[in-house]
Amino acid sequence: MNHLIAPSLLSADFSNLSKDVAMLNQSLADWLHIDVMDGVFVPNISIGFPVIRSIKKISTKPLDVHLMIIEPERYLQQFRDAGADIITIHYEASIHLHRSIYKIKEAGAKAGVVLNPHTKVELIEDIINDVDLVLLMSVNPGFGGQKFIENAFNKIKTLKTMIISKNSAALIQVDGGVDLTNAKKLLNAGVDILVAGNAIFCSSNPSQTISDLKML
Ligand code: DX5
Ligand code: ZN
Repeated sequence: MNHLIAPSLLSADFSNLSKDVAMLNQSLADWLHIDVMDGVFVPNISIGFPVIRSIKKISTKPLDVHLMIIEPERYLQQFRDAGADIITIHYEASIHLHRSIYKIKEAGAKAGVVLNPHTKVELIEDIINDVDLVLLMSVNPGFGGQKFIENAFNKIKTLKTMIISKNSAALIQVDGGVDLTNAKKLLNAGVDILVAGNAIFCSSNPSQTISDLKML
């Protein structure tokens, strides 16, 4: 039970976020996963600074901010100031990834790199000792409730081998289509942090589902 659970707020009730954040505060959730989308990097627009600032005021859990935006380096300090404790940026959106990872760390947050389903794990070999976590997307980013892409298992295996061989401390996070049917297999494959949106918020008892995922 060393793994972390990061419920994705994208599937929460946006007309009553305080209710869902209160539920998460009381639950076994470890981090609160917040998806930021710009309508350019992904074909959807979600939330920005004012909402994150508001969530920060009422959340007792660290905010894990997943940036699905182009040129994320332009906004890193602002996301940190808004309350992000963990900031992950996409490999595909970051021209100077190394610099941006250190910008996040210098701002005082944990820093992670995200890989889209088509992006090869081998491409991050030269930054694996600099990041706190690697987020492998197991759906194409942009929407909640999509089907899990099975090739994620191959990527987890490759990443785990790389982390061990390079003596890296990076954690492995998986995001997209995670639910109680595949979570155990993901943990056995070496995943440290499970992100889940629909599986939690569309279940009849979200807090119980978080416990079920945590107790695996
Ligand atoms: C997708 C987001 C995910 C999403 C996951 O672009 O990054 O965090 O909320 O939702 P589920 O768990 O429903 O696939
Ligand atoms: Zn996400």
